[in-house]
Amino acid sequence: MSQNIFDNSAPNAQLADPALNRKVDALVARMTIEEKVGQLVQFSAGEATGPSSGRQSDDAMIAAGQVGAFLNVANAKEANVLQHIAVEKSRLHIPLMFGFDVIHGYKTIFPVPLGMAATFDPNLVEASARMAATEASADGIRWVFSPMVDIARDARWGRIVEGSGESPYLGAAMARAYVRGYQGTSLSNPDSVAACVKHFAAYGAAIAGRDYNAIDMSDLTLRQVYLPPYHAAIEAGAATVMSSFNSLNSVPATADAYTLTQILRKEWHFDGFVVSDWGAIGELMAHGVALDSAVAAQKAVLAGLDMDMESGAYHSRLGNLVQSNAVPPAALDEAVRRVLRVKFALGLFDHPYVNEAAAAYTATPEKRALARNAAEESIVLLQNRAQEGQPRLLPISPRVKTIALIGPMADSQSEMLGSWTGNGNPADAITLRTALEQRMQGAGGHVLYAEGTKILTSSTEGFESAKQAAQQADITILALGEDGPTMTGEAASRAHLDLPGNQEQLLDTIAATGKPVVLVLFSGRPLVLDWAAAHVPAILEAWYPGIEAGPALVDLLFGDANPSGKLPVSFPRAVGQEPLYLSQLPTGRPADGVDLTHPPTNGEEKYVSRYIDVPNSPLYPFGYGLSYTQFSYSPVKLNVSSMAVDQLMSASGIGTQNSPIVASVTVRNTGTVAGTEVAQLYLRIRGASVEEPVRMLEGFQRVTLQPGESKQLRFPLGFQELSFINAKSQRVVEPAEYTVFIGGDSTTTDSAKFTVMP
Ligand code: NOJ
Repeated sequence: MSQNIFDNSAPNAQLADPALNRKVDALVARMTIEEKVGQLVQFSAGEATGPSSGRQSDDAMIAAGQVGAFLNVANAKEANVLQHIAVEKSRLHIPLMFGFDVIHGYKTIFPVPLGMAATFDPNLVEASARMAATEASADGIRWVFSPMVDIARDARWGRIVEGSGESPYLGAAMARAYVRGYQGTSLSNPDSVAACVKHFAAYGAAIAGRDYNAIDMSDLTLRQVYLPPYHAAIEAGAATVMSSFNSLNSVPATADAYTLTQILRKEWHFDGFVVSDWGAIGELMAHGVALDSAVAAQKAVLAGLDMDMESGAYHSRLGNLVQSNAVPPAALDEAVRRVLRVKFALGLFDHPYVNEAAAAYTATPEKRALARNAAEESIVLLQNRAQEGQPRLLPISPRVKTIALIGPMADSQSEMLGSWTGNGNPADAITLRTALEQRMQGAGGHVLYAEGTKILTSSTEGFESAKQAAQQADITILALGEDGPTMTGEAASRAHLDLPGNQEQLLDTIAATGKPVVLVLFSGRPLVLDWAAAHVPAILEAWYPGIEAGPALVDLLFGDANPSGKLPVSFPRAVGQEPLYLSQLPTGRPADGVDLTHPPTNGEEKYVSRYIDVPNSPLYPFGYGLSYTQFSYSPVKLNVSSMAVDQLMSASGIGTQNSPIVASVTVRNTGTVAGTEVAQLYLRIRGASVEEPVRMLEGFQRVTLQPGESKQLRFPLGFQELSFINAKSQRVVEPAEYTVFIGGDSTTTDSAKFTVMP
C-alpha cells in the first residue's frame, strides 16, 4: 500500500503566502524582459570558486537591472556599495541577493560537515548553523550555499567531506537541522539566511568517485537512497536549491526536467528557486546536449532552472529566446516569480542594507564554547587497545610528564579549518600544539615538538629529530593527515586513500621506537588505516575540527571530555572496496557476517560474493566509535509481534510518538566514567517485493549516562521508517518480516522481529 507521506502543498508557508505573492505579481507585471532576465542572473564579485573568466558584471549592469544576485561578496561595506546601486539606480529598485559558501561556519569555523555528522547531534548542528547565519547576515549575506546533503558512499570522492556521509536517515536529520538553523523562525528576521540545498541531484554518486562525473542509477535507488535528504530539507522549508554538475541517467542535472520540475515542483511542491552550480549552464555544451549557449540557456530554463550562476548564458541569450518564443514568456515569468518570492520573504525590499558598524567579529568565549563542544562531539575514537601488560593509552595518564608531538598537522592553524573556510581566519584556530603545551605546562610537564615531515613530500630530513623526540618522551602523539584545502572538498578526488606523502613512513619510524603512539588523524574522508590499525594502539579521527581543534583534542586526549563521535561513513580496508557502505543490497551468494541472516563462511566458500584478497567488511563500520566507558544494551523489546498494513498506514511522520510500533532497549553505562552513547536502530526487511538493504539506519538517540546509570530508550517506528520504494517508484509498506537491531554501532546483533501482515 502506498502513501504520499509528504503531502504538504506548501513546505515553506512564507513563500506560499498570498499577500507576498500579490506583491510579486504586481512587480513582475511592471518588468521588461531585460529586467526579468536580470533577476535570473548571478555573477561572482569576489574570489572565484570555480573556473574563472574574471568579473563579468559592472556597475552599469547593476544599474540597468541586469544582475539579480552576487556571490563571493563577503563584507558588509562592499555589499552595501553594490546594493545601493541596485536599489537606488535601477528603475524598479529591486534589491540584490548576496550568496556565499557558508558550509561549516562563517567566521566561527566548526568541524567540517562530515565531522558534524559524526556528532549524530542535530541540535548541535542547528545551533552551529544559527551562529553561522547570524555572522554571515551581519556581512550582508542572506543566502548560504548549504546544506550540502549529497549522500556519499565512495571515499575517493573529495566532496564526501562536505556532506553527512552515507546514510539517508542521518543525512535527512542533518539536512533538517541545517535548514532550521540557517532560516531561523522566519526568513524575514534580519539574521536569517536562505538555505540552498545542494547539489540536486545525486551528485555524490559520481562514477568511480571522480568529481563531476556522470551518474547512472535506477529510479528506485534515486528515491530510496539519494533523494531523502534533499526532500527533508525542502520539507523543513529550504528556500532555494542548487542543481548539480553531474548528469543523471544521461541528462545533465542543470537541464533535467525530471528532477527540477517533476520531483521538486510537482511532487514536493517546492516554491522557492533553483540556482545552477557555477558555470553549469555553459557546461551543457561540454556535456554535448547543447551546441551553443542559446540552446544551453533554453534547455536549462525549460527544465526548471531559475538562476544562472556565473555562466552568463541567461544574461546574453535568454532575452532573445523569449522574444523569439523559443522560451515562452510564461516560463520566464515563473522563474522570476520564484526568485522574487525569496527576496520578498527575506525582507530585502524593506531592509536592503546592512549595518557596517555591527559587522566587527571576535571569537568570543560563547562562540568558542559552541565550536569546542562541536569539535569534541565530532571526533571519533577509532582504537584504544591495551598493550601487553599496560593499561589503555587513552585517556593519557596524569603520570605522563613528557609528550612528543610530531607531525605536519600538529601546529598548523589553517589545516584545522578544512575546506570551505567561509570567512574564517586561521589566526582564530588553536592548534593541538598550543593547547597541549598549555595543558602540560599547567601540569608541570612538557611537550617535545617536531614537525617530522610535510604533508606531501618525499624528504625524510625531519625524521631523525622526530625520532629523538619520541625516544625522550613517555608517549608520542602523531598528528597526520590530508591537506584540507587541496586534498579534500571540490575537485579533490583521490585514487589512493592512504596517508599522503611519506607520513606512513614517519608513523612506521616512530612506532618502531617502541614508545606508545597515539595517532590523531585529520582527514576529510575515510582513509585506509590497515597498517596503523595493526601497529598503533590508539587512533582518533579528528576530521578538521575548526577553530577549537586544539582545546577539544586535549580535552579528549586527557579524558576531560569523553569521546562520543560515531562514524557517518564506513572505513575501508582497501581502496578496491569502494564504494563501501553499510546498506548494501543482499546477493544470492552472501559471503560474510555483514548479512546476519546468513552464517559467516570464514572465507572458505569459493562461489560467494567476495574479494579473494580482502574481507568484505569495513575496517571500521558505520556508526562505530569508542568511548572511555562501556555501555551495555538489554535485549531489544517490541510492543507488537505483528501488525496489519492498514493499521500501520495510519501512523505517518518520522518516529511520531503515536507510531503503533515501538522498539525499546535499556542502555547502561557499565564503566567508571560518565559518557555519551549514540544508540542506533537498524532495520532489515525481508519478504518484500524488492530487495532491501542488509541493514539501514532508521533511528538514533544520544544519551548521556553517569557510571552505573541506565535509561530506557524508545524508538517509535512509523510509516517513514518502515516504508521503502517499490519497483514502481512508490513509497510503500508491504507485508514483510522486519528485524530491528539496536546497539552502539551497525554490527550489533541485539535484535527482535515483527511481521507486517496483509
Ligand atoms: C561550485 C560548488 O560545486 C558549489 O558547491 C558552490 O556552492 C559553488 N561553486 C559556489 O561557490
